[in-house]
Amino acid sequence: MSHTTVPVRKAVASDIPAIQSLLNHYAAMGDLLPRTRADIENNLAHFHVVEIDGELLACGSLEHFTEELAEVRSLMVRTDIKRSGLGRAIVQELIHLARSRQVKRLMALTYVPDFFHRMGFKTVNKEIFPEKIWGICVNCYKFHNCDEIAVLMEL
Ligand SMILES: CC(C)(COP(=O)(O)OP(=O)(O)OC[C@H]1O[C@@H](n2cnc3c(N)ncnc32)[C@H](O)[C@@H]1OP(=O)(O)O)[C@@H](O)C(=O)NCCC(=O)NCCS
Repeated sequence: MSHTTVPVRKAVASDIPAIQSLLNHYAAMGDLLPRTRADIENNLAHFHVVEIDGELLACGSLEHFTEELAEVRSLMVRTDIKRSGLGRAIVQELIHLARSRQVKRLMALTYVPDFFHRMGFKTVNKEIFPEKIWGICVNCYKFHNCDEIAVLMEL
């Protein structure tokens, strides 16, 4: 599927169970960090989803640290439809949104840096994001043993 033909839309409250279910799946595999339902609810306005024929197939969230620095979070595609362009479509939408908000730097912490490199991100040292480390990572169970890779796109 070309990313221009993938229907990406803002998440709505009825998407929460499917987002949570997808997140639980990848969190159980250790691919993504777990998030509580309350955390998803509180950040729902930042989520975008791909829904086709009533099925939520992919989602991702654009969350700000500052006006100029934002993060791609909770990016995930349903296992059976990976590599069909949905991840790209969500990231393209989040990049577009970030640019429209004058975000200057878009980052992610990830185990799939090669996917992000395909999207135009570069691997960087995660220490350059103290906002992330001391705002969010410090509460993570992996804080003292984090093996995620930081990627950055200058917009
Ligand atoms: C990572 C993920 C979002 C990618 O989404 P996807 O829909 O499968 O990827 P796409 O089909 O849009 O792929 C876009 C490009 O990236 C490449 N790509 C996708 N996954 C890749 C991977 N794991 N490693 C290397 N390249 C990858 C594709 O081959 C494609 O390359 P192209 O530019 O040559 O066409 C998806 O695999 C996923 O949900 N993974 C589990 C959760 C996760 O790790 N999320 C990232 C959190 S930061």
